[in-house]
Amino acid sequence: MTIFPIDRWITFARPAVALGLAVALFYPASSWAQRAPSQGTPATAQESFQPQSGQLGKDVVWVPTPDAVVEAMLDMAEVTEGDKVVDLGAGDGRIAIAAARRGAHSLGIEYNEDMVALSRRNAARAGAHNAKFVQGDIFESDFSDADVVTLYLLPELNERLRPTLLDMKPGTRVVSHQFTMGSWKPDAKRTIGGSDALFWIVPANVAGTWQVGQLDGDLQLELEQEYQELQARGRWGSEDARVRNVKLTGADIRFTVTDRSGDVHHFVGVADHDGRMTGTVTDGNGDQRPFTARRTSAVEG
Ligand SMILES: C[S@@+](CC[C@H](N)C(=O)[O-])C[C@H]1O[C@@H](n2cnc3c(N)ncnc32)[C@H](O)[C@@H]1O
Repeated sequence: MTIFPIDRWITFARPAVALGLAVALFYPASSWAQRAPSQGTPATAQESFQPQSGQLGKDVVWVPTPDAVVEAMLDMAEVTEGDKVVDLGAGDGRIAIAAARRGAHSLGIEYNEDMVALSRRNAARAGAHNAKFVQGDIFESDFSDADVVTLYLLPELNERLRPTLLDMKPGTRVVSHQFTMGSWKPDAKRTIGGSDALFWIVPANVAGTWQVGQLDGDLQLELEQEYQELQARGRWGSEDARVRNVKLTGADIRFTVTDRSGDVHHFVGVADHDGRMTGTVTDGNGDQRPFTARRTSAVEG
């Protein structure tokens, strides 16, 4: 079973149980590696518990991601040793366990206690000691230190999570089984046996006006941003400067500026969410020097 029709999901999800039982959780970065499977909210489930595909969940039913799709999702996110991977709505733990098998420290957040207990048993059976599971509500949990976020939820739940995801550190990789993120277009998409895996890289928030140092004169850059897409205009004092080849991938930003005398400067740097940019500028003759830029006014929203 690869595609679970959205209307069935919504039918199942609407009478969501346990509304108002949100549990506030906080997972400091350093605790990922050390958190013992027995720690966190104790799972009370019996060994005999058998999950049923389509069973009710808090905001969405449980349907497992097929193994081939799990592997494709982790491939797309280039999950590797040392990554911190969080699966939001972890089900039987299969994504977190597969990530731990690649050497990642993974955390599955799951509302259903029986599923949490099952995940812990599955991880122990698989020898996936770096896969941890906690009972909690994904909308009340702090997973801001993750390097990779995986999801198999619903489009509207992805959209609800979108502001939280966009606030994560630039370069965080996000991969969703089947469902989109509204107006935030994926950076990549793969289809595996009828299922889609969609991939995003959290872009630095760079919208606004920037003052670029280390160039003769006074270069001002105006960046208009829609997620990872950028439009740029430049000014040298009162004159327009030509800005081309603008590209933003996570924290990595590059653009080319043609100055008043027609010389071309290639900027390659990194940006954060807080209006700082540093990097190297290479002139047409190959000379390189560092540059810094500061955002002097941000664009809200
Ligand atoms: C479609 S299943 C995906 C399971 C797993 N991630 C996978 O891909 O195999 C969604 C899971 O999210 C859980 N869930 C639903 N709402 C949740 C919430 N608010 N917080 C945590 N888990 C939730 C459900 O219990 C279910 O196990």
